[in-house]
Amino acid sequence: YAQQAATLSVSDNSNLTINRNIYGHFSEHLGHCIYNGFWVDSSLHVEKQDRIRLDIVKALQKIHIPNLRWPGGCFADEYHWRDGIGPRGSRPKMVNTNWGGVTEDNSFGTHEFLELCELLHCQPYITGNVGSGTVEEMSKWVEYLNFDGVSPMTAQRAANGHAAPWKVQFWGVGNESWGCGGNMTPEYYADQYRRYASFAKNYPGSPLLKIASGPNADDYNWTEVMMKQVPNWMMWGMSLHYYTLAGDWGHKGSATNFDEQTYFSALKSCLHMEDLVRTHSAIMDRYDPAKKVALVVDEWGIWTDVEPGTNPGFLYQQNSLRDALIAATTLNIFNNHCDRVRMANLAQTINVLQALILTDKEKMLLTPTYHVFDLYQVHQDAHYLPVALNSPDYTLGKEKIPAVNASASKDSTGTVHISLVNLDPAHAITVSTQLAGVTYKTISGKVITSAKFNDVNTFDQPNKIVPQDFKGASKKDGNLVVTLPAKSIVVLELK
Ligand code: AHR
Repeated sequence: YAQQAATLSVSDNSNLTINRNIYGHFSEHLGHCIYNGFWVDSSLHVEKQDRIRLDIVKALQKIHIPNLRWPGGCFADEYHWRDGIGPRGSRPKMVNTNWGGVTEDNSFGTHEFLELCELLHCQPYITGNVGSGTVEEMSKWVEYLNFDGVSPMTAQRAANGHAAPWKVQFWGVGNESWGCGGNMTPEYYADQYRRYASFAKNYPGSPLLKIASGPNADDYNWTEVMMKQVPNWMMWGMSLHYYTLAGDWGHKGSATNFDEQTYFSALKSCLHMEDLVRTHSAIMDRYDPAKKVALVVDEWGIWTDVEPGTNPGFLYQQNSLRDALIAATTLNIFNNHCDRVRMANLAQTINVLQALILTDKEKMLLTPTYHVFDLYQVHQDAHYLPVALNSPDYTLGKEKIPAVNASASKDSTGTVHISLVNLDPAHAITVSTQLAGVTYKTISGKVITSAKFNDVNTFDQPNKIVPQDFKGASKKDGNLVVTLPAKSIVVLELK
């Protein structure tokens, strides 16, 4: 039975906060994320404000999404913001060359995105075009958004119905500049970053938090060059993109039809995020020991084959219990590295990749991943509690990974939350937990699990996987003893 027991100690000895922006999301002009996702045809029979779908807004309000990244992704480096303002009927159309070659009508632009963020009560995170845009274009966009005075840009903004500046803070300077954003070398991009960032101005009352396009997965040289060539004060953050794959880019595998080997491979790929965050952070530490520059994991999540019969360029995939385990595990990694990871964005919010929400005309469903963000919202802006975990392995054939992962925090009322994940698909694991410096009288919790790791929510059965009350935790001899069901996510509340 040694394989089924873990020990965990949680201590209250850090001065770190889990930045709520770790719980951010991403919405690109890709497939049905914006169009037929957030932004629907006026004839669709759902509650709307303008053309924004309000059932989606309400679902996202419930989980308090802190920020939303837009307009891409690869799309950002071919997007020209001036095409997306003014009367909708006169906006020029363009081709979305990255995603399906479809015609983009620019009906969802700057004003519509910022209206969406206002409805969601979240901060906008806008990525400017470095790949095919100009310094002047980016500079004027910032002026249009943030300047509170008399200028041609602010006159145009007022003429388009928004006299007041929006005061956008999070500002991405290009996306994947090593790839779809221009195929640049890190040396070339570092210079471009310095140039574009210089003219993305901080207007009075609206300082930008500028985010550089960072490494692809384990491209440590990119991080090294950026940290060496760009002064710390010029970057609020540097991004990292990493996707979980069950196979490789040529053979990603089905989102629903997979065996235990594929399940295991996906979890192993997800756990690689720990190595990436550690290694990139260690490089950053050499140039920025005070940890002023944030590591912003602004694209993460599992990427599978598209659902059969759907447009391969639209990246529409189902979302299983496995994907919820991946989300919970990744968020535990981010929480445990909150000294450096201060923002992250799951790709992508609706109908694309590891989505929170899937829609089919008027219908919508919340995916298992949505429910993870619902339970984990307790960690947003909470005081970080370091954890030390001794986990049994989950072994398959000759390979093994730690079966359990965890993170913990204390909120402003003194309530402690511990999020635990058991990746083992067949064994319940009992975790004996010591809490140093933490007092509590009551224990409650929620669990997400299902009979099979590839179970999903469907439009016919939208509530197959939802959080349930958890009764598997109790105090024994002063220790908190928690029995995690196989393949489960548990969030405990200690008051
Ligand atoms: O999220 C889908 C795509 O993945 C993004 O557009 C791009 O940045 C990344 O390669």
